[in-house]
Amino acid sequence: MSKKTTRIAVLLSGGGSNLEAILQAQEAGQLGGAQVVLVLSSKPDASGLTRAANHKVPTAVVDPKAFGGDDFFQAAVLEALVKARIDVVCLAGYLRKVGPEIIRRFRGRILNIHPALLPKFGGTGMFGHFVHEAVLAAGEKESGCTVHVVDDDFDHGPVLAQVKVPVMPGDSPESLAARILEQEHRLYPEVLKEFCEKWMTSGVP
Ligand code: GRF
Repeated sequence: MSKKTTRIAVLLSGGGSNLEAILQAQEAGQLGGAQVVLVLSSKPDASGLTRAANHKVPTAVVDPKAFGGDDFFQAAVLEALVKARIDVVCLAGYLRKVGPEIIRRFRGRILNIHPALLPKFGGTGMFGHFVHEAVLAAGEKESGCTVHVVDDDFDHGPVLAQVKVPVMPGDSPESLAARILEQEHRLYPEVLKEFCEKWMTSGVP
């Protein structure tokens, strides 16, 4: 099986700086034949939606508060992905667990970026500043970011790539986060391109 374009959906809940990095890479011709065709947010006020609109990428809001339970929310996300004929799902600051039916339909084709060196400092409650606070509290000498394939558990699944950064004396969660985010913006588009190339040539990541 050979495909011309890999259709990517970016799922987010917030700022979308990783989305921005991916879209800039795409516009610079650095994503190969991959294209972001949908940005789906679980929050209606996520600034990632504005970034998407600025790049003329179609957006969708699927707000869990609008549904009478997680099953209905997950079904709406799945419907949006299927309708947009998505090949690869890219989580970029998406603060919801991906439901089992979505994992089943897109198994091996959902990527996530996490701001720590998994398997350390991942899992429930490990998001945003909590991750960096935990790294500093543990006295780690280094941290970094991880891109991995998503499976049924939070921040779990085969690691595709990691970048390490040093933890500096006097680091705050904010300064550490900023050092890591810079690397995320470099790493995620690179890994995504490579992953999608495999998908395009074989249909199997
Ligand atoms: C990033 O630190 C990412 O690793 C984590 O959530 C954050 C999202 O940041 N999963 P942004 O919305 O891409 O700016």
